[in-house]
Amino acid sequence: MIFIDTHTHLYLEEFEPDRHQMVERAIEAGVKYMMLPNIDGTSVHPMLELCKTFPDNIMPMIGLHPTSVKENYMDQLAAVECWLLDRKFYGIGECGMDFYWDKTFVNEQEIAFRHQIDLAKAYKLPLIVHIRESFNEVIKILKDVNKPELQGIFHCFSGSVEQARQAIDLGFSLGLGGVTTFKNNKMQETLKHIDLKHLVLETDAPFLAPMPHRGKRNEPAYIPLIAEKIAEIKGISVEEVAQATTENAMKLFRIANHETMEPASGGQSPAKHN
Ligand code: NI
Repeated sequence: MIFIDTHTHLYLEEFEPDRHQMVERAIEAGVKYMMLPNIDGTSVHPMLELCKTFPDNIMPMIGLHPTSVKENYMDQLAAVECWLLDRKFYGIGECGMDFYWDKTFVNEQEIAFRHQIDLAKAYKLPLIVHIRESFNEVIKILKDVNKPELQGIFHCFSGSVEQARQAIDLGFSLGLGGVTTFKNNKMQETLKHIDLKHLVLETDAPFLAPMPHRGKRNEPAYIPLIAEKIAEIKGISVEEVAQATTENAMKLFRIANHETMEPASGGQSPAKHN
């Protein structure tokens, strides 16, 4: 079984003491790819450094997180554009709207979000959307600007069936993380009505650790715990969840197929990396 953690912040200081061992643990647990969303100008270099250390497993994205939208947000967005011209990134994000922590820069958050939607379209990259107490606003903006070519992930999705359908109708996948494993959460009902083809897995590490690690530091090696919970809710095997969510993520991030295929029996696998 191969898993993909589509959203993890491995460059943050919480992982300072054991970052490399933590990545090795994830690979050992079958989490072959880890996608890193950016936060702001302070996280780009540590993120790219880690991608350089694990080039076959860790892939970067670029963007400006809504809680990092402050007075200098135009400069931050200009820097994002410079980075896009400079090297390959696998997605735009994380971006979106966050009304939970601070509402000072609500208007700027919207401008920054719309700007990053334009970048996702221009570079044909998936958009990683952060929503916190802003679901209706985000849906309104996406409806406003949506074109069939815009794809992405509603990160840390934990909403109702109706909200799930709204996101899916806009061409987005649902990113399921630790919250899915918490007792009495909405996803346990929502998931029964949503097809596997719309789901991808994520940890959002170091935040939101799944059960039984709730409240502690999260890490990508816990991805199988989320897959197990989804399998239990939907009454299917973990293998089915792994296969579907990995395929969905590979398609969305355009990770080449041959990288996860076993070599054909008796033959050599073509175009193998390294
Ligand atoms: Ni995040």
